[in-house]
Amino acid sequence: MFKRKPLLSRWKMEFRQAEAVCLPSAHLHLTAATMQVSQKDFQKAQEQLKLLKNDPGNEAKLKLYALFKQATEGPCNAPKPGMLDFVKKAKWDAWNSLGSLSQDDARRKYAELVSSLVSAESADQKKEASPEEGRHDGYETLLVTTKNNITKIMFNRPDKKNAIDHKMYREIMKALEEAGKNDSTIAVITGNGEYYCSGNDLNNFANIQPGDMEKMAKDAAVLLKEFVDHFIDFPKPLIAVINGPAIGISVTVLGLCDVVYASDMATFHTPFSHLGQSPEGCSSYLFPKIMGVAKANEMLLFNKKLTAAEACAQGLVTEVFPHRTFQKEVWARLEAYASLPKNSLAVSKQLLRSLEKEKLHEVNSKECEVLQERWLSDECINAIVSFFQRKSKL
Ligand code: COA
Repeated sequence: MFKRKPLLSRWKMEFRQAEAVCLPSAHLHLTAATMQVSQKDFQKAQEQLKLLKNDPGNEAKLKLYALFKQATEGPCNAPKPGMLDFVKKAKWDAWNSLGSLSQDDARRKYAELVSSLVSAESADQKKEASPEEGRHDGYETLLVTTKNNITKIMFNRPDKKNAIDHKMYREIMKALEEAGKNDSTIAVITGNGEYYCSGNDLNNFANIQPGDMEKMAKDAAVLLKEFVDHFIDFPKPLIAVINGPAIGISVTVLGLCDVVYASDMATFHTPFSHLGQSPEGCSSYLFPKIMGVAKANEMLLFNKKLTAAEACAQGLVTEVFPHRTFQKEVWARLEAYASLPKNSLAVSKQLLRSLEKEKLHEVNSKECEVLQERWLSDECINAIVSFFQRKSKL
């Protein structure tokens, strides 16, 4: 059965035919020296056009066609095609729209258009040659990139459900410091893979000799305090993009983020008492403020795991998106936010935070102090031992 060629290929074929017809037989009335120069550029542009690797799109091709016809034949003199002959009609319209543009100007514009298409293509090729454009060096546990005024800090231990080990705590702090100082307008935290983050890496407590327990707890409390301080003091809008389940410290610091977007596959779990521990990340102060005391207690005392919809209803999450369209919708929105005036956003964020900053540092210190003791408690040690025993029995 005869198949019609797609519109674009038919159009290309006809354009080539027009070139073939027009080029050799073009009767160019050029005499002035300036016109000879533009004729030379015009011919060079036609050669360059053949080297383009990518289709420049119908709009650009119609412009090229019209300028070529105008440059070689002058104003449109062809009869108007019928309404149903879409391709011919589009070409005729484009040529006719150039009105009485001189042939010399048409040649110049044609050469300019080709040159802009060639530059755009070579810029795209450069981009393709470096697919990790904007990637920051020096991270093992994170993928950090800056692009479109957004610094994205992505947890990158998907095989460990993005659990935060000591190295990752330090790298997150370093990434926040960089993002706070660089040219980006906003910073975004997210997770790679199925989980957003499974919280503190429980291996941080493993293989500690009995005599080293106190030192371990003290060092861990210093590290945690410093980590949470980085969230309290972060100077720009900080947005959490929760791609999947979130546990422990990755949930508690959400109260210190400015906006939290979640996939409908995300869950929010703070199993502190289950692990013989206590709340951190300023959640003991912020969660009751955000969701009310009764709901905060269910989460922080009794380990209640929230769905994304529940977390949104309780004010911890700003908005929930269907998982299928989550990344697309959220990043489109974030790119729009990132085009807002950067200094205005930073100043406003700092103003909002300034009212609570001192209090938050105070809460953070207290929470870390309590946790330092908890980590030495039998309840905590036994809970961590049973996590690893459960794993070894599987
Ligand atoms: N600390 C240490 N290791 C962790 C971890 C954590 N917080 N979260 C995940 N992992 C590791 C697992 O030990 C496992 O490692 P392995 O492949 O070497 O055995 C790997 O990540 C995959 O996790 P697994 O448990 O096999 O996947 P799962 O789908 O069955 O369960 C979790 C996922 C997150 C529910 C489960 O790993 C878990 O409960 N982790 C602990 C969460 C936690 O209590 N965090 C601290 C909160 S205060």
